[in-house]
Amino acid sequence: MSKQPPTVTSRIPGFYREHVEQRLRTMLDTGLLSEDSIRHLEDGGRLTLEVADRMSENVIGVHGLPLAIALNFRVNSNDVLVPMSVEEPSVVAAASNAARQVRMTGGFFGEATAPIMTTQVQFDDVPNPNEAKLRVEAKRDLIFQIADEAIPGMVSRGGGCRDLDVRVLDEDDGILVVHLYVDVGDAMGANVVDAVAEAVAPRIQELTGGSVGLRILSNLPLRRRIKVHCDVSVDALGGPELADGIVKASRFAELDPFRAVTHNKGVMNGIDAVALAMGQDWRSIEAGAHAFAAVTGSYKPLVVWRRTESGVHGELDMPMAVGTVGGSTRVHRGVRAGFELMGIQNAGELAIVMGAAGMASNLAALRALAGEGIQRGHMRLHSRKQEVQENARLQAKKLERGAQ
Ligand code: MEV
Repeated sequence: MSKQPPTVTSRIPGFYREHVEQRLRTMLDTGLLSEDSIRHLEDGGRLTLEVADRMSENVIGVHGLPLAIALNFRVNSNDVLVPMSVEEPSVVAAASNAARQVRMTGGFFGEATAPIMTTQVQFDDVPNPNEAKLRVEAKRDLIFQIADEAIPGMVSRGGGCRDLDVRVLDEDDGILVVHLYVDVGDAMGANVVDAVAEAVAPRIQELTGGSVGLRILSNLPLRRRIKVHCDVSVDALGGPELADGIVKASRFAELDPFRAVTHNKGVMNGIDAVALAMGQDWRSIEAGAHAFAAVTGSYKPLVVWRRTESGVHGELDMPMAVGTVGGSTRVHRGVRAGFELMGIQNAGELAIVMGAAGMASNLAALRALAGEGIQRGHMRLHSRKQEVQENARLQAKKLERGAQ
């Protein structure tokens, strides 16, 4: 008989009040974590020097960050535990809080496009670039064939080159760039598309003339996107003034890049924290997010909020290049534990959960800013944390005395 997948609830009241050991036991009860992961986390979740040495050059130690779980997330009608790793206090609590408000109206709903990465091949000094463009376009099938031959493993897993386009960047200097769009399956795909760019360059050069320049992915993967939306009720937010305040804050970000960048930083608080916990290339996600925010020519918010009759409706649209295979997803024990806990099946699902985490972080920030201000919330959280730590200390002392 096949093993039933565990049913998970992400709603665990009082989790923050437990000791770390107790929280780990609660995670064990989810049935998601392997024994190996539990042992690893009980042991402090440290990366061994040996693994660290395999991950980078010139290693002299390891650099630790807390690994936490954001609670209350419901995404596409499934509860999901969201691992987050971040040094900024309040990110996890704020996201969990907002996710609790959102789950009252069903949670987050999202979709991901097919995992199509973009890679670029640059050509310089191309004579008659507009004619060269036509010659390249006429040979698309041949170019796709060369591209696919460079990535047989990916093709056998259902991926491969899907499309191309040619852009003349400067007619006078003959600067032309060919984009190839490659389905990279559940990989983040940087290595795959870099291999494609290098493989097709010589054949394209025969068609264009000129010299080959850079052959590298673009960190603005416009065809690898997620859209996430949610509704939140006035009651969940704490009143109509807060709902109105969130919408006014959104409008401010839509009108002003100075505000939009801070608004987006709040979105990325959640996304980066999950990216780090899940071993993703957060620099690439950051680069793509901000380039996408500015893609129309003026810098815009990644999430916008509109007033509805019953509360607010939020929408996120952004590129998200993440993978569930390759990179540090296999090497790093903590990342493996994160994957077990999240229980997602593919890169698209991970991308959607990350979008939900970004929306939750943004909602929490706007709600605080529209209400009492961010500092009061931080101070309250700080004193709650101190109180919890003091209680845990007293409890541990009591246990110690009982054992003597
Ligand atoms: C702080 O890390 C993030 C905020 O500045 C985001 C925002 O202003 O929306 C609070």
